[in-house]
Amino acid sequence: MNAFGYGESPLQKLSDHGWESRNIHVFVKRDDLIHSEVSGNKWRKLKYNLAQASHLKKSGILTFGGAYSNHLLATASACNDHGIQSIGIVRGDELSESSNPTLARCAELGMQLEFVPRNEYALKSEKGYIETLQNRFPDYRVVPEGGANYYGIIGCQEIVRECDGEIDHFFLAQGTTTTSCGVLLALAEHQHLTVVPVLKGFESRKEMEHVLMRASLSESSISEYLQRVTVLDDYHFGGYARYSEELIEFIRFFHRKFGIRLDPVYTGKVAFAMWQELEKPEFEGKSVVLVHSGGLHGIPGIEARLGEKLF
Ligand SMILES: Cc1ncc(COP(=O)(O)O)c(C=O)c1O
Repeated sequence: MNAFGYGESPLQKLSDHGWESRNIHVFVKRDDLIHSEVSGNKWRKLKYNLAQASHLKKSGILTFGGAYSNHLLATASACNDHGIQSIGIVRGDELSESSNPTLARCAELGMQLEFVPRNEYALKSEKGYIETLQNRFPDYRVVPEGGANYYGIIGCQEIVRECDGEIDHFFLAQGTTTTSCGVLLALAEHQHLTVVPVLKGFESRKEMEHVLMRASLSESSISEYLQRVTVLDDYHFGGYARYSEELIEFIRFFHRKFGIRLDPVYTGKVAFAMWQELEKPEFEGKSVVLVHSGGLHGIPGIEARLGEKLF
């Protein structure tokens, strides 16, 4: 670990005869290797929230999550590594520290867990509710669920800054759009971003507009930025956390071929989409980056649903 943070993630080149014969260079930005618990875009979104807490001399971070939240676990672990305290507001007052391994690990890492009823949790983005929490915990910096705020966007810009300027194209899975907005704002003029929303019927461009407006960008610069985005909304495989046998087979194939694990919720979908897209002539002679945004913590749950090992 550096003084602050965990250092840059590797940019791994993938080797494939088909791509090479068409002079296509494909890399994976291995954010899944940043840390075993603070993996992928979780760290990108947390980094400057933690830095800000430290700068403001706050003693900790207060944030929100569900029973199996990777964001809560990442926050607990990153705060523990950096000597910062953490509070997790957890959806469901029927839960406890011993309800599951995620919550148990959060508690072990020193996170103070507050279990709240679902109707109270639903207020997590309301100004009044946040003010009440802020009054109760004045020494804590409140970070929204998933790290989806301005500082989260700033952290995600580093995904691009850590890559070679010669890259032409980035591929990224999309949930709240925070990560993709950060990547978009960091692109050089010649670079392009393709996003794969993992939710069915997701209004990607509208969501990105909202997120960028909250980051205080003007309408005209937002529409300029969005011209550099392609949205592929046919790769959700039925919706959030849905997948098909074809996707599972692709994830296994990708692992055999490149030795990289993907998950069926986010990274498997974007890798599948990229595999198809690269068939298009417009990618000839281009360098592209698949952003591996993590998500591997969910694999045991997926394997339990599948009834067999994924890898
Ligand atoms: C592994 C993984 N990839 C991609 C995303 C999508 O990121 P965002 O919600 O910032 O669009 C998420 C959600 O946080 C995620 O967990």
